[in-house]
Amino acid sequence: MEPTVHHWGYVIAATSVSQWLQNHLWVIPTSQSIHIVMISVVFGCAAMISLRLLGLSTGGRSISSLVVTLVPWMYIALLGALITGIVQTVAEPVREFVTPEFWWKMLMIVAVVILTQWFAGSVRRNAARWDSSASRPASGRAFALVSLGLWIAIVYCGRFIAYTWGFYM
Ligand code: HEM
Repeated sequence: MEPTVHHWGYVIAATSVSQWLQNHLWVIPTSQSIHIVMISVVFGCAAMISLRLLGLSTGGRSISSLVVTLVPWMYIALLGALITGIVQTVAEPVREFVTPEFWWKMLMIVAVVILTQWFAGSVRRNAARWDSSASRPASGRAFALVSLGLWIAIVYCGRFIAYTWGFYM
């Protein structure tokens, strides 16, 4: 596995697109800044939904209204994070590919998107049940805890790459 990821990293690093990104110093900081803004939107939406499901935030909005409003924003910001993440990966492919936290992060993003898609679909189909239920459904609390845990782990892995990639070279 290791020589393969190194190999593909070097192949991508030698392409003209990667070379262009590497030779323009403003690209990575700009892309990282946008990535961080996108992360704040994704995480902010996820936290608002999860805290509501856990009963830690009340307020006027029903669960279904919160999900219908915030999940599309989450996906738009995730697309922004994906685009800026790809820019950084193409600019520094070896650094990303050799670091296990990069792959853990990708795996957890796929997992949390599938989970969110399943949860949002369930809320849309059964809006009345989610909104009227006097006690918060256990499945909602479980979703809130698992998805919040995954988002925190994704942020942690994203930050961790910068401090660990050198060990794997
Ligand atoms: C959707 C696909 C994504 C890709 C391909 C991607 C890729 C990347 C890459 C390549 C880096 C630079 C790591 C480095 O070399 O130091 C990075 C940084 C980071 N990413 Fe992502 N990312 C994605 C989404 C996300 C999401 C959804 C989150 C969190 C909600 C996130 C959190 C972070 C964090 C916290 C950093 C560190 C930023 C910094 O310290 O400057 N990423 N990401």
